[in-house]
Amino acid sequence: KAKAILFDLDGVLTDTSEYHYRAWKQLADEEGIPLTKEENDAHLRGVGRRDSLMYIIRGRNYSEDQIQEMMKRKNDYYNKLIEQMSPSEVVPGGRELLQEIRQAGLKSAVASASKNCRTVLERLQIIDLFDGIADGNSVVNGKPAPDIFVFAAGLVGTPVIDCIGVEDADAGVEAIKTAGMYALGVGPKERFKRANKVVPTMENIRLQDILAD
Ligand code: G6P
Ligand code: MG
Repeated sequence: KAKAILFDLDGVLTDTSEYHYRAWKQLADEEGIPLTKEENDAHLRGVGRRDSLMYIIRGRNYSEDQIQEMMKRKNDYYNKLIEQMSPSEVVPGGRELLQEIRQAGLKSAVASASKNCRTVLERLQIIDLFDGIADGNSVVNGKPAPDIFVFAAGLVGTPVIDCIGVEDADAGVEAIKTAGMYALGVGPKERFKRANKVVPTMENIRLQDILAD
């Protein structure tokens, strides 16, 4: 019996995963490094800032100073892209789903690797619909490590076994499964190795769709 639902943010509740990709793509182009959408989905989706950059520059020699500068540059591009975000960019039906969860007496939390998580939640005006927020400042080990989901479960006082995690990234589903939770994958079926259930998008997903086997 599920007691809490823990949501990834980027690519689940809103399409900011597209903005992350665009920001990385601009940086990669400037550095003359090839980066495709397919690589993004397989290696960058849901992965933290530094780990993402490490994938992009793999096999090339950059100093720590250059790495820091590139992380900052990407984040500046990303911040430009989210500056204009408005409440209309919540996935259709997302706000209703969060209200439904609350009405059903279940807890909800965000489990996002992003340090920009709170800014995005504020722009979307959904911050008050969550009982807990775990973001890129909460834990050291990023997804696929289970830490962020375990931390989010703790925030809402729910044993991991009673939590459902929702993720659009395979690294995120790995994190959820390693945490000992039920995993709902969002995206094409082929993307996920260990999801308990997969839906193509969160659009108009109701609590019933999440809870039914
Ligand atoms: C989320 C996104 C990733 C992003 C990571 C870190 O998991 O899906 O694309 O790299 O957060 O985000 P940040 O905003 O801290 O760079
Ligand atoms: Mg995501």
